[in-house]
Amino acid sequence: MVCLMESYNFERALSSMARERLEVSEIGEMIRLVIAHGAISFAAGEPSADLVPSALLKEAFADVFDDPSQLGYVGSVLGHVGLREWIAGWMRGDGLLPDWAGARDIMITCGSQEGISLAGEALIDPGSYVLVESPTYMEALLSFRKQGAVCVGVPTDEDGIVVSELEDILRRKRARFLYTIPNFQNPSGNTSSAARRREVLDVLRGYDVPVIEDDPYHYLSYDGGTPPTYISLSGDDKRVVYLGSFSKIVAPGIRCGWMVAPDSLMSRISALRVNACLDLPSVLQRGLQNLMSAIDVSVHIERLCSVYRRRRDSLIEALDSNLSGLGFSRNHPRGGFFIWGNVEGIRDMTDFARHAVANEKIGVLPGSIFFAPGSGDETSIRLSFAKTDEAQAKEGSARLARAIKNYGK
Ligand SMILES: Cc1ncc(COP(=O)(O)O)c(C=O)c1O
Repeated sequence: MVCLMESYNFERALSSMARERLEVSEIGEMIRLVIAHGAISFAAGEPSADLVPSALLKEAFADVFDDPSQLGYVGSVLGHVGLREWIAGWMRGDGLLPDWAGARDIMITCGSQEGISLAGEALIDPGSYVLVESPTYMEALLSFRKQGAVCVGVPTDEDGIVVSELEDILRRKRARFLYTIPNFQNPSGNTSSAARRREVLDVLRGYDVPVIEDDPYHYLSYDGGTPPTYISLSGDDKRVVYLGSFSKIVAPGIRCGWMVAPDSLMSRISALRVNACLDLPSVLQRGLQNLMSAIDVSVHIERLCSVYRRRRDSLIEALDSNLSGLGFSRNHPRGGFFIWGNVEGIRDMTDFARHAVANEKIGVLPGSIFFAPGSGDETSIRLSFAKTDEAQAKEGSARLARAIKNYGK
């Protein structure tokens, strides 16, 4: 019998999650367009390659293969104990941890992103309400929605979550958790004040809602310190899971972050990890521990901050001088990578971003992609200074001004 084989189409086999709830990030498309057009990027949310400590990393990783035990499974699903102890000591020294938390409450993750994903898997059922800041980190929205969450945007201002709005939502909806990025938020650049954090926690206690505190920009602080972490404020209440990351202060490509969680959640998260990939690479965690133990971390961070502070100031200055009179307004972030702005008169910022990259070779991200469905804002725009020096800030702002003037003509 001659049988003409037709190739199998996996569309037929997809789970309802993969078919219906898995969405592709708009950010990837904009980064692709930036590269394709050879544009200046105000779109990038990753550290500048010139600030990655590559020589130090090379040294730190030089001896990791000498110890054959590093090539077996890590042995603890939580990750390399030396690195976890280092993180616990570092966080404790900076006053970021509550008394109960130590190395045994820390799990090494594949970036903060894996922490978001694991927490979502452990806490969300299809139809669950998840509270997010409005706006919030887009990849978190996609991750929670993949689990079937209905993400509800809580309005924010320059001091963080608006508490009366949070309460109003909680009166009407039983939320599984609040996801917050309290410092130098992605995308808004805003930092939640200490008073707001306390008020938010009080309200959440009243409704018995836990918190996922995502803090990858913590150390990129340019005008003074940061308010206390939610996890330290929560204390023995133990309702906060903290996510940290080495992506912004070492390199995103090493894919290393961590989660601090109380045992009532960590035991479940550990089981999810084993299920997904058994362990993360031991050699990587060992090399990173070597690096962090060898360098003066505060000197390294201050060096990063002095460069990013200059980049922030250069972009703000260039935007103000090029975009005045064009309906542009912006905030003034005290850290992180992002300036959040508005351009009056532009009704579809996604369309504008495509126009700007194609015609003026300047990459920006439309603010609307950072909102839970139904709470979008079409005039907002995210501008990153992570990768632009003073000359690029000036040239990029001039291009952005031309793009606004030409748009729709
Ligand atoms: C708020 C936020 N959370 C998490 C991540 C993911 O970072 P990581 O590289 O640690 O997975 C990012 C990256 O841009 C981010 O902005």
